[in-house]
Amino acid sequence: MKFNALRPRRLRRTPAIRSMVRETVLTPADFVYPIFVVPGTNVKEEIPSMPNCYHLSVDNAVKVAEEIYELGIPAVEVFGLPEYKDEIGSSAWDMTSPVQRAMKAIKEAVPDLVIVGDVCLCQYTSHGHCGCLTGHEVDNDKTLPLLQKVAVSQAESGADIIAPSDMMDGRIGAIREALDAEGFQNTIIMSYAVKYASGFYGPFRDAADSAPHFGDRRGYQMDPANAREALKEVHLDLEEGADIIMVKPALSYLDIVSKVREEIDRPVAVYNVSGEYAMVKAAAANGWIDEKRIVLEELTSMKRAGADIIITYHAIDAVKWMKEEAGK
Ligand code: PBG
Repeated sequence: MKFNALRPRRLRRTPAIRSMVRETVLTPADFVYPIFVVPGTNVKEEIPSMPNCYHLSVDNAVKVAEEIYELGIPAVEVFGLPEYKDEIGSSAWDMTSPVQRAMKAIKEAVPDLVIVGDVCLCQYTSHGHCGCLTGHEVDNDKTLPLLQKVAVSQAESGADIIAPSDMMDGRIGAIREALDAEGFQNTIIMSYAVKYASGFYGPFRDAADSAPHFGDRRGYQMDPANAREALKEVHLDLEEGADIIMVKPALSYLDIVSKVREEIDRPVAVYNVSGEYAMVKAAAANGWIDEKRIVLEELTSMKRAGADIIITYHAIDAVKWMKEEAGK
């Protein structure tokens, strides 16, 4: 065929035509907004490596929850810094810890907002690892009953979705069993099934005070070099009862998102993590990039790769920008 008959530019000529043939469109319903709750009242302190993200006491967390609900963002993910830490991370299932209190207060104030609970021990253990130790090893099987307690305490506090991010083997099955035994059959499990041992979590570990005090997480999180192994993790978690599968981080792993999307029939989530956020914020603060354009491009690429759910610290800004764009 002559090239004259094949002119892709015909479909790019005007904003209206482009909007008719656009394959991927972001909506506020795509997002989950993560927050960090801390002890105290009336606390709102900016996290230095994550500009415009805050340590919030429960009262202020409720205000943010109300704001995101008003914007049409359907869900909040609650992370917390506890009042105390110990060897086994017992403040993670303490019903008086900030996370549990925040979930209760948010559920009461904004009942229709979906609450996601991150289930892990690294914010709560004195050594900063995601499970309890035997010697210097993170002990997989000894950690499972602790994760069960965390999941049940969060479900009791109002979490609609339990999201285990610890990377212990067998945790999805263990948590499903514990939730069902306590009458939480309807509580959804969103598994951080494909979680890589990534340098992109750096700012989060400052935000959540969760850096390991010795060693690293390579003994339980995945090797960034592996793709086939991702599908193995996905299938194990689906067999154990995961309702939603997550890939984390996002941008360096969109090939994995796309593979997982093709492989399974359950929803796929992606976590646009703290380091990815911090890099954009730093470059934008220097005037080196157009923040709005870059963020919307990144989020669109995550959805285009196959993510149904995008967990992102950019959610509030992104929705405001999407509304601006729609009004044009
Ligand atoms: C807890 C957890 C981490 C993140 C989410 N849950 C940190 C880690 O594994 O070290 C990272 C989130 C982010 O970087 O934004 N295990």
